[in-house]
Formats: sequence, C-alpha cells, structure tokens
Amino acid sequence: MEDRIRKYLKEVESFSGNTLQEIEEFRIKFLSKKGLIAGFFSEFKTIPPDRRKQVGQLINQLKKTVTEKITVLTETLDSDTFIEPDLDPTLPAEPMILGSRHPVSIVRNEIIDIFGHLGFTISEGPEIEDDDHVFSKLNFPPNHPARDMQDTFFIRKGFDEHGNNIDILLRSHTSSVQVRVMEEELPPIRTLSPGRVFRNEAISARSHCIFHQVEGLYIDEYVSFADLKQTLLYFAKEMFGAKTNIRLRPSFFPFTEPSAEMDISCSCNGKGCNLCKFSGWLEILGCGMVDPNVLDYMKIDSKKYTGFAFGMGIERIALLKYRISDIRLLFENDIRFLKQFRSAL
Ligand code: PHE
Repeated sequence: MEDRIRKYLKEVESFSGNTLQEIEEFRIKFLSKKGLIAGFFSEFKTIPPDRRKQVGQLINQLKKTVTEKITVLTETLDSDTFIEPDLDPTLPAEPMILGSRHPVSIVRNEIIDIFGHLGFTISEGPEIEDDDHVFSKLNFPPNHPARDMQDTFFIRKGFDEHGNNIDILLRSHTSSVQVRVMEEELPPIRTLSPGRVFRNEAISARSHCIFHQVEGLYIDEYVSFADLKQTLLYFAKEMFGAKTNIRLRPSFFPFTEPSAEMDISCSCNGKGCNLCKFSGWLEILGCGMVDPNVLDYMKIDSKKYTGFAFGMGIERIALLKYRISDIRLLFENDIRFLKQFRSAL
C-alpha cells in the first residue's frame, strides 16, 4: 500500500492540468467519496497497528499534496482567463480621435485675438431685437429705403397707440450691439461684438440666411478716419498676411458718415483669379465714422467725442482665408470637411 501511495504522490506532483475540466477530473479521481484517498482510508483498517502511524501520515501527505495542487492550478487558470486568447496586448492602442473647432469659430477667435491686442473688449446682445436697436437709433429714418438694404425677418410688426414703432425682429446686423453698449457705457468705448445675424436671403453658394458678424466700435476724443484706416490695415495684415494691402471705397450706411467699404488685396497679387473675379481686390467689410446723430441719440456729446465703427461677416472672412468656394459647406457640418481645420485658437 505504501508503495502505491508513493507512486500516486509522484503522479500528483507532476500533474499539470490546464483546463478546468482536467482539474475537476483530477479532483474526482483523488478526493471524491469513491476516490483513491477514500479508498486508502478504508484499506487503512487492514494495516497492522505498528505501521499505522507511518501509513496514516503518507495518506494525509497525499491528500494535502492533491489539495494544494488543485488550489495552485485553479489560481493560475483564473489569472490566465483575463487574457483572451485572441487579444494581443502588444498591439498599439486605438488612436483617440480629437475634435476640431469649426472654421467659423476659428476665424471669430482670430478676429477677437487680433483686436484684443488693440484693447478691444467683447460685448454681446440679443438675437431677437426691436426696431430701436437695429434701425431707429442707428439713424435709419422711418420708411427710409435704407431699411430695405437688409431683408429682415420680422416677428411682430406694428405701431403702438402713440405711433411708436414696436417691431420685433431677428437682428440683421450686429450694429444693434453698438447701440446697447452706448446705452450702458460712457466713452472711451472700444468694443467688439461677435454674433449671429439673420437675413431673409435665398441660400446660395455665396449667401445664407443665417450668418455671423463681428462689429467693432471705438469712441473717444480725437478719434479720426486715420485711426480707422490704420486699425483696419493692422487687422488685414494680421489676418491675411503681412503683404496684404487694403483699399477703402466710399459707401453709405445710415449710422456712419463718411462710410466706406474695405477691400483687401487678393493673394493673386493683382494678376487676376476667379476668387477676386480678375479685379485683384476682395471686399471684406463695411466701416465709417460714427454719425454724430447716433451719438446724439445715445446722449454722447458729439462735439467732444468722435468714433469709428466697422462690421464684417465671419463666414466671408473664412471663405477667403481658407479659399472655400461655397458658404453652404460651413453649415452642413460634414465631418470630412470640418476635420481639415485645426487651430490653437
Ligand atoms: N452693419 C453693416 C452691415 O451689416 C456693417 C457696418 C458696421 C458698416 C459698422 C459700418 C459700420 O452691412
């Protein structure tokens, strides 16, 4: 019997089951009710008393070895099961896909950054506005054809019992924010108002009914047209490159006098290309000296203070800067288009 136990001891020591089933079979073979160890214990009765101690120790040793073996084997099997056989941990990780800013946001942030260097702060106003802020206080006379320059979306149209215009509308330009700033603040004022504007225009490659503008307003003593021109030249060079030139063409806005439209030189260097329609110039913004009437409406002393204002479409700047041919691309949010834009701003 002792020889048989020793033989099994060797077998147990060298056993290396590596599936749960093999280990279970091993357990049943030795430890079950009808297993080998139970068999040895029942045989034990036939052992003469003088050898019982030795044989008893041997059987216990076998039982202990089997139990320990099972514990060790199941533990290694457990930790192994964390790694699936087809998972290769040495493969590089899946790349993390980072989002990118929308080109309109990039350009808006750049404009804010450039004018920020000149001391302009940010101000905002509501998108749903009244007639006062979008037209009347900006020197648009009632029923004046200048109101038709911008096809406005009206929410409510009418007059109160005193004949006051009580129109409610979606703002058609961010010049409305100028009015709000002048209502609240005293000069010197140097502010920039980025925001969304709405115009009842057919959607095409060149125009959209919703777009973004940035308005600039500077009011102080002795502000001159030369300051306006220099400020805009600085902006153009920062935004479109140091070689950029500007030109100002006379124009009309009810709230500025004199008024101008600003063009920047096209990167084709005047040779003519499709973008500038062979003129060498690209129109980018409207500007002018704040009309003294506007200052008077706002109770700012127009004898003491002068100011300039300018307004530009952010989409237009983005189209020119990135040479995008269709404004609708900026609204479709096609990820293949958007992911081409990366910016620190
Ligand atoms: N508000 C004008 C527009 O939308 C632009 C502008 C702003 C012109 C400020 C002059 C001064 O066309």
